[in-house]
Amino acid sequence: MNKKLIGHRACGCLRTFFDLLFSLEGKMKHLWFPSDLAGVKLLIAAVVAFPALLVTNASAADVTFPEGYKQGEHYASIVRGETREELFTTPEAIAAARRGEPLPDGTVITMEDYRQNKLYRYVVMEKRKGWGQAHPAELRTGDWEFQWFNPDRTVKSGESLDRCRACHTSQSGNDYVFSYDKMKEAN
Ligand code: HEC
Repeated sequence: MNKKLIGHRACGCLRTFFDLLFSLEGKMKHLWFPSDLAGVKLLIAAVVAFPALLVTNASAADVTFPEGYKQGEHYASIVRGETREELFTTPEAIAAARRGEPLPDGTVITMEDYRQNKLYRYVVMEKRKGWGQAHPAELRTGDWEFQWFNPDRTVKSGESLDRCRACHTSQSGNDYVFSYDKMKEAN
């Protein structure tokens, strides 16, 4: 369909909405509507701003590739058939796991994933205060966000990160981290 036409229609529709709003304003002055135009404008601004507030919430896009991850601690290697995983995190996270505590705000966990000894991908988890609020309760993994990076460290596009969250929710008793006990045991 013609874009211009849609734009025009949307515009007309909006005008009808405003007309209705202003006519209501006249009729309902004595009920609850703000009596001045400024009040109505404020109301409209609030309605328009609300979705904008929602999108400023954290998303996986906020997880950038942790370039310095190798300077952290290499706390585990997991080999399963042709798959080998190398796990890295911060010394502060290791210390918290040893004390049996949740991992600190700002923790990043990086897992190199090799297939037949060739780097296949990186999977990363990062924890930041308030990040969990972007997700519905059943897919909330505390304040962790997830990301999948290609071997060249670019974000893998089109990946559903809800799958990551759904599986990691099973580890809610270990701050959503499967290898929490391996962090504890790391030397
Ligand atoms: C079907 C379950 C499942 C899914 C889906 C899943 N994971 Fe995991 N993840 C695991 C398991 C199990 C481990 C522990 C390592 C192992 O045993 O291979 C793990 C480990 C990790 C780790 C290391 C920290 C930890 O929890 O031990 C990171 C980081 C990670 N996953 C990120 C991701 C990301 C990013 C995604 C989505 C792209 C994802 N995972 C999807 C099961 C899953």
